[in-house]
Amino acid sequence: MPHATSQELIITPFAQQEGKKAKFGATVTGADLENLDEATFQILREAVYKYSLIVVKGQHNLNPAKQFELIKRFDPDAKAQHGFGAGKGSKLVGFLGDIPFYGIPNSGGVNLVGHGYQGPDHYGLKDVTIRAVPQSRVHATPISASELARGQTRFNSFHFDGSIYGAYPSRVTAFRCVKAPVGPPLTVRWDDGTGRTMRCQAGGTAFFSGEQLYDLLSDDEKDLVDHSHWEPAPHPFAWMGTRRLRSSGMGLAPGGETVPLDELPEWSPDKVYTFPMVWVNPVTGAKALQIFPDIIRRLHIRTTTSPPSERVVEDLEEIRLWVNDIYDRIATPEYIVVPACEEGDMFLWNNWVSRVAGG
Ligand SMILES: [Fe+2]
Repeated sequence: MPHATSQELIITPFAQQEGKKAKFGATVTGADLENLDEATFQILREAVYKYSLIVVKGQHNLNPAKQFELIKRFDPDAKAQHGFGAGKGSKLVGFLGDIPFYGIPNSGGVNLVGHGYQGPDHYGLKDVTIRAVPQSRVHATPISASELARGQTRFNSFHFDGSIYGAYPSRVTAFRCVKAPVGPPLTVRWDDGTGRTMRCQAGGTAFFSGEQLYDLLSDDEKDLVDHSHWEPAPHPFAWMGTRRLRSSGMGLAPGGETVPLDELPEWSPDKVYTFPMVWVNPVTGAKALQIFPDIIRRLHIRTTTSPPSERVVEDLEEIRLWVNDIYDRIATPEYIVVPACEEGDMFLWNNWVSRVAGG
């Protein structure tokens, strides 16, 4: 018999858009995340893992501390840590350390992301002006300022959330839209020779599904990723050095130099975790391919079929080409969704399955 819940959640899967192959996402109404009883939380948890991404409407008055509490409820081991560098400086986290970065006071671990002046008092932050990570710092060949001014843009950087060095990524990530950016729809360009574009709203966040990516692999590739691991560099975002992303925001462009390991800030090998390539959904059992292309230093490849093999790949160009080939299968308009985002929306997603890109 189902447990009684104090809230009647209505969960509506995202409508299938014409020409789209993406199959994830749902909208949730009727929830009050400020006062979430256990039975309602369990329904919400199942929805996150079943749909990979849920958009919980109407959370205008949520106390930021409750947002972090909710993340801890999904994942008691989640750390109040992000890849960005609040006070860390560029030596530790590369260009991310140069971006003004603020945690919400007394929230436990909620960070402010966005762009522009935040007013005289934003949840205790007084007179702060923040900056989004500019594409010019991320892409090898950035889009020009005049094209940006004409409503052309690109996906910034597909990634999952986490500081990676000495920390596992949290299982679930959340952001709440406090103030929605305004402006006409933008045209997102791939600029990879395919002519691909898609439309999205200003400030949108893009997702695709690592579960769908796994399903696109051949049987031999599935065997390989099932048994293989990837290893980031220590202080991976600093290690990236002058390497930059392709114009699609997905995967590294050729060129650039990493920082030699002995020139990085002090690090210890026990904080360099080796991650599986495949993450298993704890509710549905579905497998997802989940790799962070930008920061891989080594691949630990193992196959059990045709024929069984085991090797460590350290050639960064070989790694780059292999990872890009895999992700090119899903980093297309058919598989990417940029959900509409309204003020009061709380986005919650399976960080071990969905990929995310700042629009
Ligand atoms: Fe992120």
